[in-house]
Amino acid sequence: MNRKQTAVITGASSGIGKATALAYARRGWAVVLGARRKEHLEEVADQCRKAGGEALAVVTDVAVEEQVQNLVRSAVEAFGGLDVMVNNAGFGHYGRVHEVGSEDMRHIFDVNFHGLFYGCKAAAGVMIRQGGGHIFNVSSVIGKRGSPFNGAYSASKFAVCGLTESMRVEMRSYNVNVTLVCPGLTRTEFFGNVRGRTSSEGYQSSFVRLRTMMDPQKVARKIVAITGRRVPQVVFTPGGKFLVLAASLSPRFADWLMKFYHDDLLRRQEQTQATRQGG
Ligand SMILES: NC(=O)c1ccc[n+]([C@@H]2O[C@H](COP(=O)([O-])OP(=O)(O)OC[C@H]3O[C@@H](n4cnc5c(N)ncnc54)[C@H](OP(=O)(O)O)[C@@H]3O)[C@@H](O)[C@H]2O)c1
Repeated sequence: MNRKQTAVITGASSGIGKATALAYARRGWAVVLGARRKEHLEEVADQCRKAGGEALAVVTDVAVEEQVQNLVRSAVEAFGGLDVMVNNAGFGHYGRVHEVGSEDMRHIFDVNFHGLFYGCKAAAGVMIRQGGGHIFNVSSVIGKRGSPFNGAYSASKFAVCGLTESMRVEMRSYNVNVTLVCPGLTRTEFFGNVRGRTSSEGYQSSFVRLRTMMDPQKVARKIVAITGRRVPQVVFTPGGKFLVLAASLSPRFADWLMKFYHDDLLRRQEQTQATRQGG
C-alpha cells in the first residue's frame, strides 16, 4: 500500500516546531502536530494544508506520557505509519543554580527531558515494527556546554544528549536514525516563555553580546534535508561549533568564553550585591 510519508512534531504550535511542520508539508508530507495551545495548532495545521501537505492537530502536553502515546497513535491511525518523530517541545528557565526551586527543576525535566523520552519510546515502538524511521531530538548548544544562569535548562538538554547518543547506537540494527539537533539562539517565542526568577528581558540581556539570532527556518530546513540520512548531530552556527569544541578540549577556556559572553550580566549582579551589602 502506498501511504503518505508522515512526521509527528511536538511543540509544533510555534517557533522551530511550526517551521519544521511547514517544511515537511511543503514536500507533501502528512504532519501530526502536538502542543498544548489548540488554536495555534489548528492555525499551523491550516497553513500546512495550504502548503501542500496533510495535517492533523492533536492537543498534547508532552509531560503526560499517555498524551504523547496518543499523539503517535493518532498519526499511525490517520496516515498508516510514522516516518519521522521530531521531539522538539521545550522551554527555558533562567536563574542561578542555587536559586532554582526544586519544583521548577522537576517541571523543566518533566517537559524537556521526560516529554522527549516518551516521544522516543512511542516512536521507536512503531518504527521498529515498521522496519525503519528517523527520530530527531532537539537539545541546544547549551546542552553541550553548561551556561551560567541556565543551569536547569542546560541540565535538561544535557540529559537529552545522553539519551540520544545511547539510543542512536541501539537503534542502528532497527534501521532507525536518531539525530541530536543543537540550535543556537533562534528567533522564536522561546525568550518570552522563559521561566525562573527574572523576566525574559533579563534572560535575553545575558546574551547581549550574541547579537545575531538564527531563523527557525534554518533549523527546519536542515532537519528536512537530512531526513533518512545517518547524521548523528547537528550544531548550526560557527560560534556553536566553536563552543562545543572548546568545551571538549578545554573546560577552563570554555568557562572563560562563557564569562566573556555573560560579563555584562555578571557585572550588574555583582554591583547589585555590593549595593545590598553596602546598604
Ligand atoms: N529559541 C532558541 O534560541 C533555542 C535554542 C536552542 C534550543 N531550542 C529548543 O528548541 C525547541 C523549540 O523551541 P522554540 O525556540 O521553537 O520556542 P517556542 O517558539 O517557545 O516553541 C516551544 C514549543 O514547545 C511547546 N511546548 C512547551 N511546553 C510544552 C508541553 N508541556 N507540552 C507540549 N508542548 C509544549 C510550545 O507549545 P504550547 O505552548 O502550545 O504547548 C511551543 O510549540 C525547544 O526544545 C527549545 O529548548 C531553542
